[in-house]
Amino acid sequence: MEHPQVTPFPSGFLWGASTSAYQVEGAWNEEGKGPSVIDKAVFNAELSDFKVTSDHYHHLEQDVALFAELGLKTYRFSLSWARLFPQGTGELNLAGAAFYDRLITLLVQYHIEPLVTLYHFDLPWALQEKGGWSDPATIDAFERYARMAFERYGDRVKYWLTINEQNMMILKGEVIGTLPPGTPDPQKALYQQNHHMMLAQARAMIACHQMLPTAKIGPAPNISCVYPASARPEDVLAANNFSAIRNWLYLDLACYGTYNAVAWSFMREKGYLPTVTEQEMALLRAGKPDFIAFNYYASATVGAEQSAHAREQGEPTRAVDQQLAGIDTRVYAGMNNPFLKRNQFNWYIDPVGFRITAREIYERYRLPLIVTENGLGAFDTLEAGNKVYDDYRIAYLRQHLEQLQLAISDGVEVFGYCPWSAIDLVSTHQGIGKRYGFIYVNRDEKDLKDLARYKKKSFAWYQQVIASGGQNLNPQIEY
Ligand code: BG6
Repeated sequence: MEHPQVTPFPSGFLWGASTSAYQVEGAWNEEGKGPSVIDKAVFNAELSDFKVTSDHYHHLEQDVALFAELGLKTYRFSLSWARLFPQGTGELNLAGAAFYDRLITLLVQYHIEPLVTLYHFDLPWALQEKGGWSDPATIDAFERYARMAFERYGDRVKYWLTINEQNMMILKGEVIGTLPPGTPDPQKALYQQNHHMMLAQARAMIACHQMLPTAKIGPAPNISCVYPASARPEDVLAANNFSAIRNWLYLDLACYGTYNAVAWSFMREKGYLPTVTEQEMALLRAGKPDFIAFNYYASATVGAEQSAHAREQGEPTRAVDQQLAGIDTRVYAGMNNPFLKRNQFNWYIDPVGFRITAREIYERYRLPLIVTENGLGAFDTLEAGNKVYDDYRIAYLRQHLEQLQLAISDGVEVFGYCPWSAIDLVSTHQGIGKRYGFIYVNRDEKDLKDLARYKKKSFAWYQQVIASGGQNLNPQIEY
């Protein structure tokens, strides 16, 4: 569908940017913070760990001033559960609570709307030791933690996100999940964890609505449209299967309180069915989101089986990035998409898929949408005069914003866009070298250097885009 005239971005649109606590804060063991699963995980020894990251904890004022200069209308960040509750439950760590007080108050002073994720991959280690999300007690701990956050910060925070990319934690359990290595029957355990997280989310949404009647809360999964490798009906069916298992399982539970039928039959066939009670299903139906936040990096392409060509080329399936996480080759095969370019990390770049994804979500659930992650990871180079000429990132973001505007023109209700990431931070498993930020942080994988902040060319670009309210996505940039 072509629009002779595109619809402008709505007034009050939340132009933003995102980070997460464990990837940006550093201060991993300071002022009473407890360890999280991230602090205990074993990562690639050649890459940065998560101890100092961008040291945002000690650069708070400087960083928020830069966000204000960028013109952000919202800043999406996560609270570190283990900074607030070092044991996951029990005593609140007052120093940790004061840190988020300072951050939120600063944001409000700069007229930046705080958009708070309660949980972004970093489960407190103390809970993990007791079984993590396999233990139903973690549901109670999450609700208690969420209630504390609503009570303490709810006077200044209107927008809340429950759990970041729950679907990636389940589908990519070996990388960012909370499953101890060697767990017997890991898939079944993960789907039980998934059910528990859904219950925790529902309880947080109910608590939020009770405690903060004017606040809004929603889930934040990673959603990608799924293309069939060809028009062959079997390929279309495979794409349909994957979309149910990757995307709709999570949003159907969050929005309708029901298990997606295809995903349920997949779990039943494979022997992964979680234990579920009628009372729990009633709770899931009662917890309703006000909006859907979603993260999008690229589309996925799947087929019923490998193509003969791919086999001959020794190109069995495409490299498995997060879009294809959890691919189960017995149900579908991840395929290359010859129509798309890739980034330096082999992730596809698909702006049109962004529009398709937004349309699919809105059509299914009819809730307002906000994009909470979208961006390009790249090896940036710091050049003379402390400049970073990241025109590739500008191109990526511009193309995605153009498509988002087309989705809005299609009738999709979108109220914000928060690219990943506000400032350089450590990637989930590819180090600090895979940079996403508008602000360069001067450090390498192992050498912390001076951690100075430098504005990239994309900073100047986004600043002007925001200043124009999205009317000019291609401004003249002086840099
Ligand atoms: C999302 C996560 O999966 O993608 C972020 O919510 C993450 O935490 C981002 O950093 C980009 O992925 P990566 O692997 O490039 O860091």
